[in-house]
Amino acid sequence: MSQKDRLMRDMKANPQTDYHTAVMTDEVVWLMHPKPGGVYIDCTLGSGGHAHRLLEFVCDDAQVIGIDRDQDAISAAKQRLKCFRDTVTFVHGNFSDLQDIVENLRIPQVDGILFDLGVSSYQLDEAERGFSYMEDGPLDMRMNQGAGLSAEDLVNTLSVKEITDILRTYGEERWAARIANFIVEKRDKAPITTTGELVEIIKAAIPARARRSGPHPARRTFQALRIAVNHELDNLHEGLEQAMKILSAGGRLIVISYHSLEDRIVKTTFLEMSDPRNHGSLRILTRKPIVPCREEVIANPRSRSAKLRAAEKF
Ligand SMILES: C[S@@+](CC[C@H](N)C(=O)[O-])C[C@H]1O[C@@H](n2cnc3c(N)ncnc32)[C@H](O)[C@@H]1O
Repeated sequence: MSQKDRLMRDMKANPQTDYHTAVMTDEVVWLMHPKPGGVYIDCTLGSGGHAHRLLEFVCDDAQVIGIDRDQDAISAAKQRLKCFRDTVTFVHGNFSDLQDIVENLRIPQVDGILFDLGVSSYQLDEAERGFSYMEDGPLDMRMNQGAGLSAEDLVNTLSVKEITDILRTYGEERWAARIANFIVEKRDKAPITTTGELVEIIKAAIPARARRSGPHPARRTFQALRIAVNHELDNLHEGLEQAMKILSAGGRLIVISYHSLEDRIVKTTFLEMSDPRNHGSLRILTRKPIVPCREEVIANPRSRSAKLRAAEKF
């Protein structure tokens, strides 16, 4: 049975399946303040957890455009949101093309835009997708399966310096240069093709004393490669710029990020867009980022690093 068939079977058996547990849904609804007849864009639809909550809140009297670059996510969301079939438009695309997407759909107004960044639990847990350092699988990491370069392409073709830069910039990895050297040494003998092989290389590169405490030794490298493979930070810059252009006056922009590089971009972009010296037309609603409550973190440990920032266009 193919990966997609398995996913669809599980989603049909239980549409609330643990494909992904949406984070801070109450806070998103409260800050988005959706109104009947409004138009909302979920730029990172995943399995539709946030979209479902927004539509429940307005008794399905709103229009939601759900975008995801992962075809598996679109399939899962279609299943989960089938009771709202007439109100949701599904778009398999990249939120860095937000303006074109909205223009093609001829949407006259946008009342709210949500970005829930990063990867879903499904993407992380499915070994075949290659995001996980806990499971052995092909070294892929592409959110949009089949498009662009994979992590395997990067580790087997980039120079030591290029790999070091990626691990340092996107993973803030202290042992970046050592890991890059070990990767190149290993690939000179045979190409690196699986997540398991890469984990072993990272473990060999990081001195034992540094591996004894802290998170999994491969966590930073995997985060860095994932960001590079999917151009995540460039897409975020572009997505926020375009969101600001298409949002109607009074419309709300909500961003949930999961690591400091993303949060820094959201914070500085919001500040720039709200600065009167730049003729900013954004009012920041969250002076400090909102984080999940203790109960949510206990129930869903993956929510622990989430930071939510919200703003309103005027
Ligand atoms: C954290 S999950 C979102 C989960 C979703 N809020 C839910 O309730 O199920 C992030 C999703 O964003 C998608 N994604 C990440 N970057 C994207 C981009 N540039 N354009 C479109 N989708 C993107 C991923 O494929 C993933 O499905």
